[in-house]
Amino acid sequence: MAQKRIGILTSGGDCAGLNAALRAVAHRAIRGYGWKVYGIRDGSLGLMNRPLDFVEFDLHTASGEMLRMGGTILGTVNKGDPFAYPMPDGTTRDRSQEFVEGYRELGLDALIVIGGDGSMRILNKLCKVGGVPMVGIPKTIDNDVAHTDYAIGFITALSVASEAMDRLAPTAASHHRVMILEVMGRDVGHIAMAAGIAGGADAILIPEIPYSLDGVAGKIAEVRAEGRNHALVVVAEGCKTESGRSVTQVQADGEARYGGIGQYLAAKLSTLVEAETRVTVLGHVQRGGQPGPRDRMIASAFGVHAVDLIAQGKMDRMVAWQHGQVVDVPLTEIAGITRGVDPYGTVAHTARGLGIYIGDMGV
Ligand code: F6P
Repeated sequence: MAQKRIGILTSGGDCAGLNAALRAVAHRAIRGYGWKVYGIRDGSLGLMNRPLDFVEFDLHTASGEMLRMGGTILGTVNKGDPFAYPMPDGTTRDRSQEFVEGYRELGLDALIVIGGDGSMRILNKLCKVGGVPMVGIPKTIDNDVAHTDYAIGFITALSVASEAMDRLAPTAASHHRVMILEVMGRDVGHIAMAAGIAGGADAILIPEIPYSLDGVAGKIAEVRAEGRNHALVVVAEGCKTESGRSVTQVQADGEARYGGIGQYLAAKLSTLVEAETRVTVLGHVQRGGQPGPRDRMIASAFGVHAVDLIAQGKMDRMVAWQHGQVVDVPLTEIAGITRGVDPYGTVAHTARGLGIYIGDMGV
Protein backbone atom coordinates (compact mmCIF):
# COMPACT_ATOMS: atom_id res chain seq x y z
CA MET A 1 0.00 0.00 0.00
CA ALA A 2 1.35 3.46 -0.95
CA GLN A 3 2.35 5.63 1.98
CA LYS A 4 -0.64 7.74 2.96
CA ARG A 5 -0.66 11.17 4.56
CA ILE A 6 -3.53 11.66 6.98
CA GLY A 7 -4.60 14.74 8.90
CA ILE A 8 -6.27 14.81 12.28
CA LEU A 9 -7.96 17.65 14.12
CA THR A 10 -9.99 18.25 17.27
CA SER A 11 -13.08 20.41 16.94
CA GLY A 12 -15.72 21.78 19.33
CA GLY A 13 -15.41 21.94 23.12
CA ASP A 14 -12.47 20.08 24.59
CA CYS A 15 -12.71 17.18 27.03
CA ALA A 16 -10.48 14.63 28.69
CA GLY A 17 -9.17 11.89 26.40
CA LEU A 18 -8.58 13.86 23.20
CA ASN A 19 -4.82 13.51 23.41
CA ALA A 20 -5.16 9.78 24.01
CA ALA A 21 -7.11 9.55 20.72
CA LEU A 22 -4.49 11.62 18.87
CA ARG A 23 -1.77 9.36 20.21
CA ALA A 24 -3.63 6.22 19.19
CA VAL A 25 -4.13 7.52 15.65
CA ALA A 26 -0.43 8.38 15.38
CA HIS A 27 0.68 4.99 16.70
CA ARG A 28 -1.64 2.95 14.52
CA ALA A 29 -0.91 4.95 11.37
CA ILE A 30 2.86 5.13 11.83
CA ARG A 31 3.55 1.73 13.40
CA GLY A 32 0.82 -0.22 11.67
CA TYR A 33 0.87 1.26 8.17
CA GLY A 34 3.99 3.44 7.88
CA TRP A 35 1.89 6.53 7.09
CA LYS A 36 2.55 10.17 7.85
CA VAL A 37 0.27 11.87 10.38
CA TYR A 38 -0.33 15.62 10.55
CA GLY A 39 -2.07 17.26 13.50
CA ILE A 40 -4.04 20.31 12.35
CA ARG A 41 -4.11 23.10 14.92
CA ASP A 42 -7.24 24.81 16.22
CA GLY A 43 -9.84 22.71 14.45
CA SER A 44 -10.56 23.71 10.87
CA LEU A 45 -8.60 26.97 11.32
CA GLY A 46 -5.27 25.21 10.85
CA LEU A 47 -6.23 24.38 7.26
CA MET A 48 -7.99 27.71 6.59
CA ASN A 49 -5.17 29.95 7.79
CA ARG A 50 -2.02 30.74 5.80
CA PRO A 51 0.59 29.63 6.44
CA LEU A 52 -1.05 26.30 7.27
CA ASP A 53 -0.87 25.53 10.97
CA PHE A 54 0.00 21.91 11.70
CA VAL A 55 2.47 19.59 13.39
CA GLU A 56 3.76 16.27 12.10
CA PHE A 57 3.42 13.51 14.67
CA ASP A 58 6.12 10.96 15.23
CA LEU A 59 6.35 8.22 17.83
CA HIS A 60 8.38 10.51 20.06
CA THR A 61 5.80 13.35 20.10
CA ALA A 62 2.95 10.85 20.38
CA SER A 63 4.41 9.51 23.60
CA GLY A 64 2.79 7.88 26.61
CA GLU A 65 2.62 11.33 28.21
CA MET A 66 -0.07 12.31 25.71
CA LEU A 67 -2.22 9.49 27.02
CA ARG A 68 -2.34 11.17 30.41
CA MET A 69 -2.83 14.78 29.35
CA GLY A 70 -6.12 16.68 29.55
CA GLY A 71 -7.27 19.13 26.87
CA THR A 72 -6.00 18.85 23.31
CA ILE A 73 -2.43 19.61 22.34
CA LEU A 74 -3.72 20.70 18.93
CA GLY A 75 -6.11 23.34 20.27
CA THR A 76 -9.74 23.53 19.23
CA VAL A 77 -12.52 26.00 18.46
CA ASN A 78 -16.23 25.77 19.20
CA LYS A 79 -17.53 28.80 17.34
CA GLY A 80 -17.11 30.46 13.95
CA ASP A 81 -18.95 28.57 11.19
CA PRO A 82 -16.45 28.28 8.27
CA PHE A 83 -19.34 28.79 5.83
CA ALA A 84 -20.17 32.16 7.42
CA TYR A 85 -16.97 33.00 9.25
CA PRO A 86 -17.13 36.19 11.34
CA MET A 87 -14.48 38.63 10.08
CA PRO A 88 -12.92 41.44 12.16
CA ASP A 89 -14.85 44.09 10.18
CA GLY A 90 -18.18 42.59 11.27
CA THR A 91 -18.92 40.86 7.94
CA THR A 92 -19.00 37.10 7.40
CA ARG A 93 -17.11 35.13 4.76
CA ASP A 94 -17.42 31.64 3.33
CA ARG A 95 -13.99 30.11 4.04
CA SER A 96 -14.79 26.57 2.92
CA GLN A 97 -12.55 26.77 -0.16
CA GLU A 98 -9.59 27.88 1.99
CA PHE A 99 -10.10 24.71 4.06
CA VAL A 100 -10.19 22.47 0.98
CA GLU A 101 -7.16 24.20 -0.57
CA GLY A 102 -5.30 23.81 2.73
CA TYR A 103 -6.07 20.09 2.75
CA ARG A 104 -4.70 19.79 -0.82
CA GLU A 105 -1.63 21.92 -0.07
CA LEU A 106 -0.72 19.53 2.73
CA GLY A 107 -1.16 16.61 0.30
CA LEU A 108 -3.52 14.70 2.57
CA ASP A 109 -5.35 11.51 1.62
CA ALA A 110 -7.95 11.60 4.41
CA LEU A 111 -8.94 13.55 7.49
CA ILE A 112 -9.87 12.27 10.93
CA VAL A 113 -12.13 14.64 12.84
CA ILE A 114 -12.55 14.28 16.60
CA GLY A 115 -15.72 16.18 17.42
CA GLY A 116 -19.21 16.27 18.86
CA ASP A 117 -22.31 16.07 16.68
CA GLY A 118 -22.31 19.79 15.86
CA SER A 119 -18.66 20.14 14.88
CA MET A 120 -18.68 16.81 13.06
CA ARG A 121 -21.66 17.94 10.99
CA ILE A 122 -19.91 21.17 9.96
CA LEU A 123 -16.63 19.39 9.22
CA ASN A 124 -18.43 16.78 7.17
CA LYS A 125 -20.11 19.55 5.17
CA LEU A 126 -16.69 21.17 4.66
CA CYS A 127 -15.18 17.88 3.54
CA LYS A 128 -18.02 17.32 1.07
CA VAL A 129 -17.27 20.69 -0.60
CA GLY A 130 -13.89 19.38 -1.71
CA GLY A 131 -14.49 15.64 -1.85
CA VAL A 132 -12.30 15.19 1.24
CA PRO A 133 -12.59 11.65 2.69
CA MET A 134 -13.39 11.92 6.40
CA VAL A 135 -13.61 9.60 9.40
CA GLY A 136 -15.17 10.86 12.64
CA ILE A 137 -14.34 10.07 16.26
CA PRO A 138 -17.06 11.10 18.75
CA LYS A 139 -16.11 13.19 21.78
CA THR A 140 -18.15 15.27 24.17
CA ILE A 141 -18.78 15.26 27.88
CA ASP A 142 -22.49 15.64 26.99
CA ASN A 143 -22.45 12.09 25.51
CA ASP A 144 -25.21 13.06 23.10
CA VAL A 145 -23.76 11.73 19.82
CA ALA A 146 -26.14 9.28 18.16
CA HIS A 147 -25.34 5.58 17.73
CA THR A 148 -22.53 5.45 20.29
CA ASP A 149 -22.93 4.45 23.93
CA TYR A 150 -19.90 6.55 24.80
CA ALA A 151 -18.19 9.61 23.40
CA ILE A 152 -14.68 10.42 24.60
CA GLY A 153 -14.76 12.59 27.73
CA PHE A 154 -18.11 11.61 29.19
CA ILE A 155 -16.88 9.11 31.74
CA THR A 156 -14.17 11.42 33.07
CA ALA A 157 -16.72 14.26 33.38
CA LEU A 158 -19.02 11.87 35.20
CA SER A 159 -16.22 10.99 37.65
CA VAL A 160 -15.75 14.70 38.41
CA ALA A 161 -19.48 15.23 38.96
CA SER A 162 -19.75 12.11 41.06
CA GLU A 163 -16.80 13.19 43.20
CA ALA A 164 -18.51 16.56 43.69
CA MET A 165 -21.52 14.71 45.07
CA ASP A 166 -19.26 12.83 47.48
CA ARG A 167 -17.88 16.16 48.68
CA LEU A 168 -21.26 17.85 48.95
CA ALA A 169 -22.96 15.08 50.94
CA PRO A 170 -21.01 15.52 54.20
CA THR A 171 -21.24 19.30 54.22
CA ALA A 172 -24.96 19.08 53.42
CA ALA A 173 -25.39 16.75 56.40
CA SER A 174 -23.33 18.94 58.73
CA HIS A 175 -25.42 22.03 57.99
CA HIS A 176 -28.80 20.34 57.43
CA ARG A 177 -28.87 21.88 53.97
CA VAL A 178 -30.28 21.16 50.56
CA MET A 179 -27.34 21.11 48.16
CA ILE A 180 -28.00 21.70 44.47
CA LEU A 181 -25.34 20.62 42.00
CA GLU A 182 -25.63 22.11 38.50
CA VAL A 183 -23.79 20.03 35.91
CA MET A 184 -23.06 20.52 32.23
CA GLY A 185 -24.60 18.52 29.39
CA ARG A 186 -26.06 21.17 27.08
CA ASP A 187 -29.51 19.89 25.99
CA VAL A 188 -29.25 16.42 27.52
CA GLY A 189 -29.03 14.96 31.00
CA HIS A 190 -26.56 12.08 30.75
CA ILE A 191 -24.07 13.56 33.22
CA ALA A 192 -26.82 14.62 35.64
CA MET A 193 -28.54 11.23 35.64
CA ALA A 194 -25.42 9.16 36.03
CA ALA A 195 -23.80 11.45 38.62
CA GLY A 196 -27.07 11.68 40.53
CA ILE A 197 -27.42 7.92 40.75
CA ALA A 198 -23.73 7.40 41.55
CA GLY A 199 -23.77 10.21 44.10
CA GLY A 200 -26.96 9.32 45.96
CA ALA A 201 -29.13 12.24 44.82
CA ASP A 202 -32.68 12.66 46.09
CA ALA A 203 -33.78 14.50 42.96
CA ILE A 204 -32.32 14.66 39.45
CA LEU A 205 -33.67 17.12 36.91
CA ILE A 206 -32.87 16.72 33.23
CA PRO A 207 -34.12 18.46 30.08
CA GLU A 208 -35.68 15.25 28.74
CA ILE A 209 -38.19 14.88 31.59
CA PRO A 210 -40.58 17.62 32.77
CA TYR A 211 -40.49 18.37 36.48
CA SER A 212 -42.41 20.50 38.96
CA LEU A 213 -41.08 22.53 41.86
CA ASP A 214 -43.74 20.92 44.03
CA GLY A 215 -42.38 17.54 43.01
CA VAL A 216 -38.85 18.46 44.13
CA ALA A 217 -40.15 20.04 47.35
CA GLY A 218 -42.29 16.98 48.00
CA LYS A 219 -39.24 14.71 47.71
CA ILE A 220 -37.29 16.87 50.15
CA ALA A 221 -40.23 16.72 52.60
CA GLU A 222 -40.32 12.92 52.20
CA VAL A 223 -36.60 12.66 52.97
CA ARG A 224 -37.13 14.77 56.08
CA ALA A 225 -40.06 12.63 57.19
CA GLU A 226 -37.78 9.60 56.89
CA GLY A 227 -35.43 11.25 59.39
CA ARG A 228 -32.69 12.70 57.18
CA ASN A 229 -31.87 16.35 57.69
CA HIS A 230 -30.32 17.11 54.33
CA ALA A 231 -30.88 16.47 50.65
CA LEU A 232 -28.95 16.42 47.38
CA VAL A 233 -30.36 17.67 44.08
CA VAL A 234 -28.60 17.41 40.71
CA VAL A 235 -29.80 19.62 37.88
CA ALA A 236 -28.62 19.55 34.27
CA GLU A 237 -27.75 23.01 32.97
CA GLY A 238 -30.14 22.61 30.02
CA CYS A 239 -33.22 22.21 32.24
CA LYS A 240 -35.78 24.92 31.78
CA THR A 241 -37.65 26.84 34.46
CA GLU A 242 -41.06 25.55 35.42
CA SER A 243 -42.57 27.96 32.91
CA GLY A 244 -40.32 26.66 30.13
CA ARG A 245 -37.64 29.37 29.96
CA SER A 246 -34.00 28.42 29.28
CA VAL A 247 -31.55 29.89 31.78
CA THR A 248 -28.47 31.24 30.03
CA GLN A 249 -25.64 33.67 30.65
CA VAL A 250 -24.30 35.89 27.90
CA GLN A 251 -20.51 35.67 27.87
CA ALA A 252 -18.10 38.56 27.25
CA ASP A 253 -17.90 37.60 23.57
CA GLY A 254 -21.67 37.86 23.20
CA GLU A 255 -22.23 34.08 23.07
CA ALA A 256 -24.99 32.73 25.32
CA ARG A 257 -24.25 29.59 27.33
CA TYR A 258 -26.42 27.60 29.70
CA GLY A 259 -25.95 28.49 33.37
CA GLY A 260 -28.05 29.56 36.33
CA ILE A 261 -30.81 26.96 36.59
CA GLY A 262 -29.36 25.90 39.96
CA GLN A 263 -29.81 29.39 41.40
CA TYR A 264 -33.32 29.54 39.99
CA LEU A 265 -34.18 26.28 41.74
CA ALA A 266 -32.63 27.41 45.01
CA ALA A 267 -34.66 30.62 44.99
CA LYS A 268 -37.88 28.81 44.23
CA LEU A 269 -37.29 25.97 46.69
CA SER A 270 -36.54 28.40 49.50
CA THR A 271 -40.21 29.42 49.40
CA LEU A 272 -41.39 25.80 49.42
CA VAL A 273 -39.10 24.06 51.92
CA GLU A 274 -37.80 25.17 55.27
CA ALA A 275 -34.14 24.48 54.71
CA GLU A 276 -31.07 26.42 53.72
CA THR A 277 -30.12 25.83 50.14
CA ARG A 278 -26.72 26.20 48.50
CA VAL A 279 -25.76 25.89 44.84
CA THR A 280 -22.58 24.53 43.26
CA VAL A 281 -22.07 25.11 39.55
CA LEU A 282 -19.48 22.58 38.43
CA GLY A 283 -18.68 24.18 35.07
CA HIS A 284 -15.56 23.52 33.06
CA VAL A 285 -13.82 21.42 35.71
CA GLN A 286 -15.88 18.63 34.14
CA ARG A 287 -13.98 19.10 30.89
CA GLY A 288 -10.47 19.57 32.22
CA GLY A 289 -7.97 17.38 34.02
CA GLN A 290 -6.50 13.99 33.26
CA PRO A 291 -8.66 11.47 31.44
CA GLY A 292 -9.70 8.49 33.55
CA PRO A 293 -8.60 5.01 32.48
CA ARG A 294 -11.88 4.18 30.75
CA ASP A 295 -11.71 7.30 28.57
CA ARG A 296 -8.08 6.50 27.71
CA MET A 297 -9.18 3.04 26.66
CA ILE A 298 -12.16 4.21 24.60
CA ALA A 299 -10.10 6.96 22.96
CA SER A 300 -7.35 4.49 22.10
CA ALA A 301 -9.79 1.98 20.63
CA PHE A 302 -11.48 4.72 18.60
CA GLY A 303 -8.13 5.99 17.28
CA VAL A 304 -6.97 2.56 16.15
CA HIS A 305 -10.31 1.77 14.48
CA ALA A 306 -10.45 5.14 12.69
CA VAL A 307 -7.06 4.49 11.07
CA ASP A 308 -8.08 0.95 10.15
CA LEU A 309 -11.17 2.33 8.42
CA ILE A 310 -9.01 4.58 6.24
CA ALA A 311 -6.76 1.62 5.44
CA GLN A 312 -9.84 -0.32 4.32
CA GLY A 313 -11.08 2.63 2.24
CA LYS A 314 -14.21 2.95 4.41
CA MET A 315 -14.77 6.70 4.50
CA ASP A 316 -17.46 9.10 5.69
CA ARG A 317 -18.03 6.96 8.73
CA MET A 318 -17.86 7.56 12.47
CA VAL A 319 -16.39 5.10 14.91
CA ALA A 320 -18.77 4.19 17.72
CA TRP A 321 -18.99 2.15 20.90
CA GLN A 322 -21.88 -0.27 20.96
CA HIS A 323 -22.37 -3.06 23.49
CA GLY A 324 -18.69 -3.27 24.39
CA GLN A 325 -17.46 -3.27 20.79
CA VAL A 326 -15.99 -0.62 18.54
CA VAL A 327 -18.05 -0.41 15.35
CA ASP A 328 -18.57 2.24 12.69
CA VAL A 329 -21.66 3.95 11.34
CA PRO A 330 -22.25 6.25 8.35
CA LEU A 331 -21.79 9.93 9.21
CA THR A 332 -25.14 10.60 7.57
CA GLU A 333 -26.82 8.55 10.29
CA ILE A 334 -25.62 10.75 13.14
CA ALA A 335 -26.13 14.16 11.53
CA GLY A 336 -28.71 16.32 13.25
CA ILE A 337 -29.59 13.73 15.90
CA THR A 338 -29.11 14.47 19.59
CA ARG A 339 -29.02 11.33 21.73
CA GLY A 340 -30.79 12.24 24.96
CA VAL A 341 -31.56 10.21 28.06
CA ASP A 342 -34.34 7.74 27.35
CA PRO A 343 -37.06 8.66 29.89
CA TYR A 344 -38.08 5.00 29.97
CA GLY A 345 -34.61 3.42 29.61
CA THR A 346 -32.47 1.56 32.13
CA VAL A 347 -30.91 4.63 33.72
CA ALA A 348 -34.22 6.43 34.30
CA HIS A 349 -35.80 3.18 35.52
CA THR A 350 -32.93 2.70 37.96
CA ALA A 351 -33.33 6.22 39.33
CA ARG A 352 -37.07 5.75 39.82
CA GLY A 353 -36.44 2.36 41.39
CA LEU A 354 -34.15 3.99 43.93
CA GLY A 355 -36.89 6.44 44.84
CA ILE A 356 -35.11 9.40 43.25
CA TYR A 357 -37.44 12.14 42.02
CA ILE A 358 -36.67 12.57 38.31
CA GLY A 359 -39.72 14.49 37.21
CA ASP A 360 -43.33 13.98 36.49
CA MET A 361 -43.31 11.66 33.52
CA GLY A 362 -45.22 8.52 34.40
CA VAL A 363 -43.74 5.04 34.15
O1 F6P B 1 -20.68 20.63 24.78
C1 F6P B 1 -19.77 20.62 25.85
C2 F6P B 1 -20.07 21.76 26.79
O2 F6P B 1 -19.16 21.68 27.88
C3 F6P B 1 -21.51 21.81 27.30
O3 F6P B 1 -21.76 20.86 28.30
C4 F6P B 1 -21.58 23.24 27.75
O4 F6P B 1 -22.92 23.69 27.74
C5 F6P B 1 -20.76 23.97 26.72
O5 F6P B 1 -19.90 23.02 26.15
C6 F6P B 1 -19.94 25.10 27.27
O6 F6P B 1 -19.33 25.75 26.21
P1 F6P B 1 -18.13 26.78 26.38
O7 F6P B 1 -16.87 25.98 26.58
O8 F6P B 1 -18.11 27.55 25.11
O9 F6P B 1 -18.43 27.63 27.57
